[in-house]
Amino acid sequence: MPIRLASQFLPSGTPAKLWYILISTALQVTFGCPQKPTPPSLSTRFPMDILAAFAEFESSALAAIAAATDAAGIEKVRIEFLGQKNGRIRDLQKLVGSAAPADKPAVGKRFNEVRTTVSEQLEVRQQQLVAQASKAASDFDVTLPGDRPRLGRLHPITQVIAEFRELMGRFGFTVVDGPEIEDERHNFEALNIPEDHPARDPLDNFYIACASATHGGPVLLRSQTSTVQIRTMEKVAPPVRIVSLGRVYRPDTIDATHSCMFHQMEGLLVDRNVSMAQLKTVLSQFARSFLGPGVEIRFRPSFFPFTEPSVEVDMKWGDSWMEIGGAGMVDPAVFEAVGYDPEIYTGFAFGLGIERFCMKHFAVDDIRRFYENDLRFLSQF
Ligand code: FA5
Repeated sequence: MPIRLASQFLPSGTPAKLWYILISTALQVTFGCPQKPTPPSLSTRFPMDILAAFAEFESSALAAIAAATDAAGIEKVRIEFLGQKNGRIRDLQKLVGSAAPADKPAVGKRFNEVRTTVSEQLEVRQQQLVAQASKAASDFDVTLPGDRPRLGRLHPITQVIAEFRELMGRFGFTVVDGPEIEDERHNFEALNIPEDHPARDPLDNFYIACASATHGGPVLLRSQTSTVQIRTMEKVAPPVRIVSLGRVYRPDTIDATHSCMFHQMEGLLVDRNVSMAQLKTVLSQFARSFLGPGVEIRFRPSFFPFTEPSVEVDMKWGDSWMEIGGAGMVDPAVFEAVGYDPEIYTGFAFGLGIERFCMKHFAVDDIRRFYENDLRFLSQF
């Protein structure tokens, strides 16, 4: 008996079981008895790429589950990873099928572990989200007054511009646009404003020094919408019947009726036998359509290099007269500059200050209010 043999070399009183362990271990070491083999690790049982695919599936599914924030989100995750038809789990199933027969049991076991973990976590998260949603629903007090949405509105000048376009459209005028940065040909030369004319004084205009070099000549912020007359006639043959509405810029001293940026509506009609009477009719009809039947229009003799004769246009609404623009018959020199035959064609043109109409229409006493962006003012229109 090994215990008895060995007991001769061991202190007396040692328990029999401990003796047995010590001696059997010694015998195994001495005589090389085979030990129970430790199981090989998974990685030695089947290829690394299968292992890696399982691990990747598991970690990305768990991350997506944790990131889902609502029922729709978690359902999307379920379909992506566990969906019967196209879920990524199907790729893992194929890997199980492709494993060597000897590896299949271990691969299948790992597959089941991964699928169970992901399914369980998905269910836990689904329940959490349902609980969250029902708590949020129960926290909602349906008796609380709602937040009234703040609706924006069009600026009063924009409203007036839209109405002007509409009215002039009814008189048969087409709306065209032109650039706000202009060259001297369109702002002055073709409009018969010679180089030495005071209107071209750099101090009376916003020249853009830095843009002049790239443009190949002086450029400025247009000082009038009459530029669009030239641009239109350069492009189309007569007859012409257009209006153009937009911003113009002048370094005028700012006060209750003057701004350094304001809006004009330019009108141009070119045809055979156009008369000054037609000009006055169009302007009267336009002003009455906009402000009411009591409005009167009068012409005062004036001078503009691009019209002959030229007039200042005044409008009477209520008790007082107010200057609203300039107008006249297109000067033959302008027709020549754009290649129209002044022997065949005549035309009228006008340029009205839009702010002046807007102030009358909305009873605003100071033009500066339009540009201060004060919501207390703007929200009244
Ligand atoms: C012109 O600008 C000419 N181009 C009008 C014209 C067109 C004449 C076609 C003939 C043929 P005037 O500089 O007068 O004209 O300006 C026209 C209108 O713009 C004025 O009557 C006024 O209503 C408005 N206006 C002029 N300067 C200012 C300003 N600083 N602020 C606000 N409105 C202004």
